Amino acid sequence: MFTINYEHRVKTRRTFAIISHPDAGKTTVTEKMLFLGKVIHMAGTVKAKGSSKYARSDWMEIEKRRGISVTTSVMQFSYKDCIINLLDTPGHEDFSEDTYRILTAVDFCIMIIDAAKGVEERTRKLIEVTRLKKTPIITFINKLDRYCKNYISLLDEIESDLNIKCIPINWPIGSGTSFYGIYNLKNKKIHTYLKKKKSEQSQNNLSDSIKIFNLFSLKKIYEKNYAEEIYEELQLIENVYDKHNSAEFLKSISTPVFFGTALGNFGIDYMLDYVVKYAPSPSSRKTNLRIVNPKESFVTGFVFKIQANMDLRHRDRIAFLRIVSGIFHKGMKLKNIRTGKIFVLSDAVYFIAGERRIVNSAYPGDVIGIHNHGTINIGDTFTEGENFSFIEIPLFAPEIFKKVLLKNPLKKKQLVKGLIELSEEGTIQVFRKMDSNTIFLGAIGSLQFEVVLDRLRIEYKVDIAYNDVNIAVIRWIKCKSKKKLKDFINKYSQHLAFDFKKNLVYIATNAANLKITSDLNKEHISFSSTINF
Ligand code: G4P
Repeated sequence: MFTINYEHRVKTRRTFAIISHPDAGKTTVTEKMLFLGKVIHMAGTVKAKGSSKYARSDWMEIEKRRGISVTTSVMQFSYKDCIINLLDTPGHEDFSEDTYRILTAVDFCIMIIDAAKGVEERTRKLIEVTRLKKTPIITFINKLDRYCKNYISLLDEIESDLNIKCIPINWPIGSGTSFYGIYNLKNKKIHTYLKKKKSEQSQNNLSDSIKIFNLFSLKKIYEKNYAEEIYEELQLIENVYDKHNSAEFLKSISTPVFFGTALGNFGIDYMLDYVVKYAPSPSSRKTNLRIVNPKESFVTGFVFKIQANMDLRHRDRIAFLRIVSGIFHKGMKLKNIRTGKIFVLSDAVYFIAGERRIVNSAYPGDVIGIHNHGTINIGDTFTEGENFSFIEIPLFAPEIFKKVLLKNPLKKKQLVKGLIELSEEGTIQVFRKMDSNTIFLGAIGSLQFEVVLDRLRIEYKVDIAYNDVNIAVIRWIKCKSKKKLKDFINKYSQHLAFDFKKNLVYIATNAANLKITSDLNKEHISFSSTINF
């Protein structure tokens, strides 16, 4: 099974997600990428008039804008000689733990920064998550056709705020209404931005206009004084920033920086060219027994997301399995290592142009959807038989907490069952306090609470309400010494709870409390914001 063709297919896969703060331009960049991948056929249209409210999924947002169906969580398209898998990271109000976990299932990320706003809060959080696995980051500075911060200050901000070195691959000339284009620091060519009518923007890619950079040619394009100013600035930039170093990029020490305007369809193709040339192909992954290399011929994979918006009454779910190694074929039998159950996968689906299609074959880096009725959990490993489990599929410490109020006390059993199942799917995290047995829920995005409320009502026939609870932060506790752990439990039992997998967590009412406790106990107890599924 191990052929040159197979190796080539692995080498030309690119699996990534986009990181951004709401409104920085993720949907617009995605749309332009789909256009460049020939998945959609006209770039440059904008949101339908009057649709000021965002849909729950950014894919749905595109769908609404474009009148096409792309609702899914993974998009596959080809660009140059690569197959690209773009994993949607729920944003806006459907921001959730899924958003974080998806970042651990990809091989690299593209970070979009709004040039007027710089590094924003959501971006900061998402970048923290990528740090867990030192995921390589490519940066796209967007909206250059509007007012922008000073570009050097912007890169300084990224460097200091996100602790990553910026390596500009190109440099913008002007901004806002005077945005003239970008200068390629490597081949020293200028690509001129041509403001076009929206209907023409599909042609506005970088191959449009390439001008060799020297003062003479600049003077032909710009007024004499401005040409000199640009010339000096670009020479300065060449000396200020380090040259691209692909090893540093792959270790996430540095981030290549691209500039452009997604709305103007300018600069995205250049970044995708970089993706094809330098971004990592599917990587090896750790299991509890050994490291699995994507070139291995046996099929292995792990589940990182479960989508339950199919037919709720039948617990119809799609589990998203990332293939780590081997070629998956339709009808293949794969074993869920956690349960030992064999799945005959004749109706696994993949997503193209918004449609679900039956998978005939899939390669490392690809994501396939497996239908199930609640028998697959997040973190499950599938193999052709070898017994091991992928270990780096994390659970993240929730950031919002609520106490559950059961409206009909006779429904306690259904409530517990529902909460256990929903937590195994990754919809919510459930905790039980050690001293009082009180159940409380934790989530990363507030929409998760609404989803749980709805699903408990529809699928488990349980009505609940929520009460606020005085918890600001939880951390998973680890301790090597049984005696020290016992002492800790005795001392802090009012601050302890179990998660749904019976892991011990410390509950703090504020960050200061957490700091004091962790400082006091740091010799023996570790406080972690993630734990593996
Ligand atoms: P998001 O998914 O990250 O939330 O951002 P999205 O792409 O939806 O973009 C947010 C807003 O920014 C949209 O405007 C979009 O048109 C605009 N935008 C995206 N890229 C650019 C760019 O390069 N230049 C400019 N000037 N704007 C850009 P909106 O106000 O929400 O809607 P609309 O009235 O433009 O449709």
